[in-house]
Amino acid sequence: MKIEKDFDLTKLNTFGVKAQAKFFAEVKNEEDLVELFNTPEFRDNQRLFLGGGSNVLFTKNFEGIVVLNRMKGMNVVKEDEENVFIKSMGGEFWHDLVKFTVERGLWGIENLAFIPGTVGAAPVQNIGAYGVELKDTLENVEAYDIDTGKQVIFYKDECEFGYRSSIFKGKYKGKYFISSLVLKLSKRGKGNTDYKILRDYLEENKIKVETSRDISEAVTAIRKSKLPDPILIGNAGSFFKNVFVDREELESLRKTYPEVPSFEEEGIIKIPAGWLIEKCGPRDGTNWKGYREGNIGVHEKQALVLVNYGGATGEEIKNLSEKIIFSVSLKFGLLLEREVNLI
Ligand code: EPU
Repeated sequence: MKIEKDFDLTKLNTFGVKAQAKFFAEVKNEEDLVELFNTPEFRDNQRLFLGGGSNVLFTKNFEGIVVLNRMKGMNVVKEDEENVFIKSMGGEFWHDLVKFTVERGLWGIENLAFIPGTVGAAPVQNIGAYGVELKDTLENVEAYDIDTGKQVIFYKDECEFGYRSSIFKGKYKGKYFISSLVLKLSKRGKGNTDYKILRDYLEENKIKVETSRDISEAVTAIRKSKLPDPILIGNAGSFFKNVFVDREELESLRKTYPEVPSFEEEGIIKIPAGWLIEKCGPRDGTNWKGYREGNIGVHEKQALVLVNYGGATGEEIKNLSEKIIFSVSLKFGLLLEREVNLI
C-alpha cells in the first residue's frame, strides 16, 4: 500500500470536477487497511473514504487523506430452502453485484440496477430506487472502527436506516470503514413493480416479469433514458432529496397548486423535488429544467440532476444548487436538502 501526495481526484468523482487530496491511498485488502491505520498520514489527518465518487461534490481541495476502497470479491455464504446470503466486498461496483444476483435467478436488488457507485457506499445513504431500498435485503455490514482498528458487525436494525440515510451518515459519520456487506436474497419472487414509472414501462413494452433480470433490464433502460451517463456528462445522480411534508402542509400547498404530485411510503409523504425545481426558474416565467449557465446546468430530463458539461468547478455547481434552493423556498416555502455530500 502506497500513500501518494497531492493526488488529482478529477477522475475519482463522477461530477468530474478538479480537486486534489493532500494524501491518497488505495486499499485492496484487509492487510492494506491495517497498515494504513498505523500510518501518521492516516492517524493525524482528516479522512475521506471514497467508493465510486458518485455522491460527492468537491468544492475545494481536500486537506486530509482520501482512501479509495478497492476490496474485491463476491460469494455465496449461506443458503437454505428460501434464501441465498451473498457477501460482497465494499470495493465491488454495485451494478456488478446486481448482475451477480440476477444471473443466479435471485430476487431482491433487481430494482436497484444500474446505480453508479460501489457496494461499500451503498449502506451509507441506503441507496434506493423504483420502490426498493438497500435496507430491504441487507443482513449486515462489516466495518472497521478507524480509532481502534477493530472489525465490527452492524446488523440491519443497528444501522438506523431511513430515506437516503443511515448511522454511517449520522452519528458514526467518518468513524467506520465499510469493508463488506451481506445481503439476504430470495430464490422465489415475483418482483416489486409497484412504482408507477416501472409498471408503466413494463406495460408499454408488454414485458411479463418472469425473472429478476426482466426487472433489472427494465430499470436499466428507464435510468438510461432519464439520467445522464457520468462518463459523458459529469453528474452525481439526484443532487437533492425529495421533500417530506405532513398532511396539513400538503393540503395547504394543494390550495394554490392542486396538481402537486406526492408519494406516501411507510406513512411518510414525499413531494418529488424534481417537480418543485421544474416549477421554478432563475427568473419569473423561466424554468430550471434544461437550464444552462456556462459549464453547468440542470439536466433536461430530470430536474433533480445537476450537470457539469466540462470544466466546471465544484463551487459553481454549489452556487447553482443554492440558487435552486432559494427559488423553491421562495415559491413553495419548502426547504430542499442536498443528497450529495459537499466536501
Ligand atoms: N418529476 C418532475 N420533474 C422532474 C423529475 C421528476 O416533475 O424533472 C416528478 C414527476 O411527478 C415524476 C416523479 O417526480 O413522476 C418521480 O420521478 P422519478 O421516478 O424520476 O423519481 P424521483 O423521485 O425524481 C427518485 C430518486 C432517484 C431514483 C428514482 C426512481 C431521490 C432523491 N431520487 O427520484 O434516485 O432513481 O426516484 O426510484 O429520491 C439518486 O438517488 O441519485 C437517484 C437517481
